[in-house]
Amino acid sequence: MIKKEITIRYTETDQAADLEPNDSLLLERAKDAAEQAYAPYSGFRVGAALRLENGNIITGNNQENAAYPSGLCAERVAIFAASSANPGKVIESIAITISTDGHHVTSPVPPCGACRQVIAEYENKQQKRIRIIFAGETGKIIQVDGIESLLPMAFNSKNLQHR
Ligand code: THU
Repeated sequence: MIKKEITIRYTETDQAADLEPNDSLLLERAKDAAEQAYAPYSGFRVGAALRLENGNIITGNNQENAAYPSGLCAERVAIFAASSANPGKVIESIAITISTDGHHVTSPVPPCGACRQVIAEYENKQQKRIRIIFAGETGKIIQVDGIESLLPMAFNSKNLQHR
């Protein structure tokens, strides 16, 4: 038996100015998107903004539903919108943030497990990593260079090759 270890890497900063200029703009766009979320049940308005290789920015926000599981997270709204309108374009980065009425969210809001799985799918499809930047309303900003840091040992299409 061999004991193995997986290390994840991320960067943390207090200043959006430390991000690549394109990515700090993306975070601002995510903030704007968060403010437009439809989140009457949770009051937790999430925004996501992603940049394609051609520089286009596509945003999304969470869309809730009275039948709770019928809603969708901001990240998936943005990614599915991007992929449906620009199927062949590489996604470079995605920024995620939040807006609440009390403005008390001081820790970075990471993508949920289902959104991580979706990010992994599109990384796999485009064969290129997607930088992920996430922040709260104030406080630290975290950045990872690809989904592997948030979802090690992801299930992907290779695992389906069973025949
Ligand atoms: N939410 C997102 O939009 N993205 C995430 O990664 C985590 C959760 C939304 C779903 C729901 O509308 C609200 O936040 C509370 O969970």
